[in-house]
Amino acid sequence: MAAVTAAAVSLRAATTTSTSPSSAPQHSHCSFPSAARTVVSRRGALAIRAQAISTDAAAAAPVKEKKVSKKQEEGVVTNTFRPKEPYVGKCLLNTKITADDAPGETWHMVFSTEGAVPYKEGQSIGVVADGEDKNGKPHKLRLYSIASSALGDFGDAKTVSLCVKRLVYTNDAGEVVKGVCSNFLCDLKPGADVNITGPVGKEMLMPKDPNATIIMLATGTGIAPFRSFLWKMFFEKYDDYKFNGLAWLFLGVPTSSSLLYPEEFGKMKAKAPDNFRVDYAISREETNAAGEKMYIQTRMAEYKDELWELLKKDNTYVYMCGLKGMEKGIDEIMVPLAAKEGIDWIDYRKQLKKSEQWNVEVY
Ligand SMILES: Cc1cc2nc3c(=O)[nH]c(=O)nc-3n(C[C@H](O)[C@H](O)[C@H](O)COP(=O)(O)OP(=O)(O)OC[C@H]3O[C@@H](n4cnc5c(N)ncnc54)[C@H](O)[C@@H]3O)c2cc1C
Ligand SMILES: NC(=O)c1ccc[n+]([C@@H]2O[C@H](COP(=O)([O-])OP(=O)(O)OC[C@H]3O[C@@H](n4cnc5c(N)ncnc54)[C@H](OP(=O)(O)O)[C@@H]3O)[C@@H](O)[C@H]2O)c1
Repeated sequence: MAAVTAAAVSLRAATTTSTSPSSAPQHSHCSFPSAARTVVSRRGALAIRAQAISTDAAAAAPVKEKKVSKKQEEGVVTNTFRPKEPYVGKCLLNTKITADDAPGETWHMVFSTEGAVPYKEGQSIGVVADGEDKNGKPHKLRLYSIASSALGDFGDAKTVSLCVKRLVYTNDAGEVVKGVCSNFLCDLKPGADVNITGPVGKEMLMPKDPNATIIMLATGTGIAPFRSFLWKMFFEKYDDYKFNGLAWLFLGVPTSSSLLYPEEFGKMKAKAPDNFRVDYAISREETNAAGEKMYIQTRMAEYKDELWELLKKDNTYVYMCGLKGMEKGIDEIMVPLAAKEGIDWIDYRKQLKKSEQWNVEVY
């Protein structure tokens, strides 16, 4: 079972969305961009204590070692709750984690589950927004990647957290349209009920090997499952799991004001400098030497030879989450790397996929 280490941080309550200190268990640690903190402090700081817890490439795509599938792992539960009988959780906390001048808003929220919705790192839950659709039917569920470790932000395995971007766009008729569920979630006040389904998904489960190299590729809210992985690796203590491999996170966001959880990642880096690397790609502020927009794949290209060497190892696992467009961009940097050794990247990627070393959830 898990135990706790300590890294106290303070989480400031958002103007409209804070939990009462008495309802907040004493074991969390969320941290937020400092710019965001300065804009969310009207109700004062809510202090929450952190739970701190070669294979040589052959000419053809090499066949990967056969492993026991993570999908068979004991204790992975799916679909405990379905839309007709959802689990009704309570919102404990909801905080905007992007600064006011960021393009778009992203919120971090924590819901109570009382332990009734157990989940593993890498799974998602469904949320059914209150209200009805235009046909008078209940809204369809939307999926959200879980952003907390299985222990939850408060360390008691009784909560689940999400990282949600508010969807707002202008349609062809020039009208501003608000996405149903993301707006429902970002507007949730502490104490409000939330209909939860799931958990679902096995693609993004973590590898069991504590010595693995885990390369995490995220755009925007695609960071959610990786926050969950990284809390387990660096902020929590388990009798049967101590991460001693390499966790390498690449995160792509539009502006520095929209960076997600950078303070938490900074703490992880300070705690485990040899086991954690983080590289950001800030698309609207940075370019590469050729003047191209700094997308996640552009940043990865700076380390391409190192990444390729890692990808040849049997205990390197790549996870990708976020915008669908990133997948193609990442393939494009891999093709020439593999080709240099006479390997067809697409075949090799298929092998990696088969051995659960290439895990993708993009949308
Ligand atoms: C496995 C999975 C995990 C996910 N995890 C997360 C997560 O962790 N965080 C997160 O924020 N989201 C996540 N999503 C996305 C989430 O499920 C919702 O799709 C998202 O929040 C939008 O839902 P909504 O109800 O607000 O919008 P809806 O009311 O469903 O509206 C969305 C629709 O609006 C239209 N639309 C959207 N943008 C535009 C545009 N620019 N122009 C014209 N039309 C447009 C499209 O038709 C789109 O289908 C995940 C999705 C999946 C499949
Ligand atoms: N499990 C899942 O499937 C899952 C989980 C979480 C989120 N999501 C999805 O992930 C998406 C994240 O969006 P967001 O609004 O949170 O992100 P965001 O804040 O807009 O950040 C996305 C970043 O990716 C960049 N980008 C755009 N096109 C790209 C491309 N082709 N290749 C690489 N990078 C690219 C953007 O750059 P510019 O904007 O400057 O071009 C921006 O820097 C949403 O669609 C969400 O539904 C899926």
